[in-house]
Amino acid sequence: MCMTIYDSFSIQNRVTLYQGDCLEFLKTIPDESVTLVVTSPPYNIGKEYEKKVSLEIYYKWQEKVIQECYRILKNNGSICWEVGNYVSNGEITPLDIYLYPIFNSLNLHLRNRIIWEFGHGLHCSKRFSGRYETILWFTKTDDYIFNLDSVRVPQKYPNKRYFKGPKKGELSCNPLGKNPSDVWDIPNVKSNHIEKTIHPCQFPIELMERFVLSMTNKDDIVFDPFMGVGTTAIAALMHDRKAAGSELEKKYVEVAKERIIAAENGTLQMRPMGRPVFDPKAKDDYIPPETIAFPSEEQLQLTLLQKEVIYK
Ligand SMILES: C[S@@+](CC[C@H](N)C(=O)[O-])C[C@H]1O[C@@H](n2cnc3c(N)ncnc32)[C@H](O)[C@@H]1O
Repeated sequence: MCMTIYDSFSIQNRVTLYQGDCLEFLKTIPDESVTLVVTSPPYNIGKEYEKKVSLEIYYKWQEKVIQECYRILKNNGSICWEVGNYVSNGEITPLDIYLYPIFNSLNLHLRNRIIWEFGHGLHCSKRFSGRYETILWFTKTDDYIFNLDSVRVPQKYPNKRYFKGPKKGELSCNPLGKNPSDVWDIPNVKSNHIEKTIHPCQFPIELMERFVLSMTNKDDIVFDPFMGVGTTAIAALMHDRKAAGSELEKKYVEVAKERIIAAENGTLQMRPMGRPVFDPKAKDDYIPPETIAFPSEEQLQLTLLQKEVIYK
C-alpha cells in the first residue's frame, strides 16, 4: 500500500507533515478547518529539542501557538494540551496552571483536566518522583463531539446484574464498558516500550487513540503542532481520520514518515489500546509483543470488551 505524505496543507490530504516551525505551518491552515488539536509542546526544561528560555518568553510563545490553534478549530472541535512540570533548581511549576489563563481568555470551555499516570520515570531524591502529567481538554463551544461509547473500558466486575427488583437478572452496567474517567493509567514510552524510537518524549499511541476516537468522527482532521515522531498522526490514520502536523527537527519527521508507512503496511509495532497494564504480581499477565495493521472495518466494530477477551 502506498500513501502520499504531503508537506503543505490541504483539507483534502489524508496526511500532511510539515518540517519546520508550527507558527509558519499554522499560517497556511484556513480558519475552522480542524476538529481536534492534540499536542504536547516542549516543556522548556532543556530537552535535546529545545532551548530553555524564561517562563515569560515561553508563555508568550505558547500564547501565539494556542491562539492560532483556536483560529483553525471548528466550532464542534476540541483542543487537548498535554503538559508536565517546568523544573528549575528543584522547584516545580505545573505548566497547565500557568497556561490555563491563555485558553480561558479565548473563551474555551474546560471539560476535563485529565491526569495521565504512568509507572516509570526518573527517581527524585529531594521530592516525590513525578508519575503523572496533565491534559487540559477544552471545547470551542457547548456543541462538541464526544463519542463516549468508542472509548469505554471494561468494568471491574463486568456482567454485574440486578439481584432483585423488576430488573432482576438484567445487566446493571453498560455492556459496552464504563466511562474511562479523568485518570488514565497508560504506560509511558520508556526504553523497553514496544513503540520506543529515537525521540526522548514520544506519546504512546493508545493515549492519542482515546482522544481521536472520542473527539472526532471519520474523515475529520486531527492536528498536532508539535508532531515529534508522528504519534498523533498514526492514531488518527488508524481510525480513518485525516492528520496534519508540524515538527521542527528533520530527524523526527523522517521517523514519523517511516512509522506512518509501517502502520499503513501493518508492520508497526504498537501496544494495543485497552491492554491491561503489566502487573508483575500476576503470573499469567505476559502478552507477547505483536504488530497491528490499520484496523479493518470488522476490527473497528469490536467493542472494547470483545477486544479485552481477545487480548487475554
Ligand atoms: C514533547 S515533543 C512531542 C512528541 C510527540 N508527541 C510524539 O509523540 O512524538 C515536542 C516536539 O516539538 C518539537 N518542536 C519544538 N519547537 C517547535 C516548533 N516551533 N515548531 C514545531 N515543532 C517544534 C520538538 O522538536 C519536539 O519533537
